[in-house]
Amino acid sequence: MLRENFTDLLRIIGKRPGLHLAPDKDGYCDSIRELYSFILGFEMAQVVDDDTSVLNAFTFWVCHHYGVPDGSRNWHGHILERAGGDDAAAFRLFFELFEEYLKDREAVGPEAIQARFIAMLEELNRKRKDWPLRLAREDDVPAIDALIPISVRALQAPYYSPAQMEAALGPVFAVDRQLIRDGTYFVAEHEGQIVGCGGWSRRQSLYGGDAGRSEPNPELDPARDAARVRAFFVHPSWARRGIGRSIMNACEEAIHEAGFRRVDIVATLAGEPLYAAFGYEVVERYDIVISDSVRLPAVRMTKSF
Ligand SMILES: CC(C)(COP(=O)(O)OP(=O)(O)OC[C@H]1O[C@@H](n2cnc3c(N)ncnc32)[C@H](O)[C@@H]1OP(=O)(O)O)[C@@H](O)C(=O)NCCC(=O)NCCS
Repeated sequence: MLRENFTDLLRIIGKRPGLHLAPDKDGYCDSIRELYSFILGFEMAQVVDDDTSVLNAFTFWVCHHYGVPDGSRNWHGHILERAGGDDAAAFRLFFELFEEYLKDREAVGPEAIQARFIAMLEELNRKRKDWPLRLAREDDVPAIDALIPISVRALQAPYYSPAQMEAALGPVFAVDRQLIRDGTYFVAEHEGQIVGCGGWSRRQSLYGGDAGRSEPNPELDPARDAARVRAFFVHPSWARRGIGRSIMNACEEAIHEAGFRRVDIVATLAGEPLYAAFGYEVVERYDIVISDSVRLPAVRMTKSF
């Protein structure tokens, strides 16, 4: 039922060139990005009657139409690219494509399009398991420095207030060059851009960058001490695509090879589900005191091999 409502809605929108939807706070929409947000919002607001919604199928269809192999971006990105980056032209192109999609769907049937979409998702899932990683270098520091606040402000927003995130950027969330020098910090790249980073440590510190570190950071004894997992940050556009998992796999392998049999982590609330997925157990929940007025809830986690 929803499927049909949705299709009708888009048909109505499409018949009114230049119309202004009301997706944003100003009640204004004439760009493909706004349309995308509007439609996503519309879908989210409904109880979707099927796990592969109309838009998912449309995403597949657009990727297929443009011969984009992995469907890694959403339809609005492909349409915008096709329209040469011109938002207004992309907005118009969307409706032409949507009409074409509906005709195609009538011709081959929604099930066929859905089946192709599911196959594409499975292919994507296969791909995302194993991101190629490399060790971070000193000259990656500016890119990692830039990535950290982008990751924190987007991916920690469900867990922390803006005041907590801003206060922790720097003292808690920052590059630790010591990990880079130790060869225990990994980066994942996409088209030459760093989209995720994270690592492990054979040293005492459990979190924080090296800039404000006044204490020495002595090496641990693998026979007695627990190694650390440290400083995972993924770009929000690449979240939940297996980058964190790939870096964790690389860390655990290296930790094991270095002779450690236990790992401790001080995790953010945003990081907790990733580590829990790797079998880490919560030891303690506590607050990192950042200043007199700001505390950051954190979780001490551990795992033995
Ligand atoms: C934590 C973080 C690094 C995870 O990176 P990621 O690349 O998105 O994680 P992955 O896609 O590899 O996720 C692997 C598994 O972890 C779990 N997981 C990761 N993020 C999750 C979330 N937001 N909610 C629930 N489970 C989550 C899931 O089990 C997931 O497997 P699935 O996608 O097959 O369900 C990322 O969210 C991040 O950068 N957060 C902000 C910075 C931060 O707080 N870092 C942690 C410091 S301790």
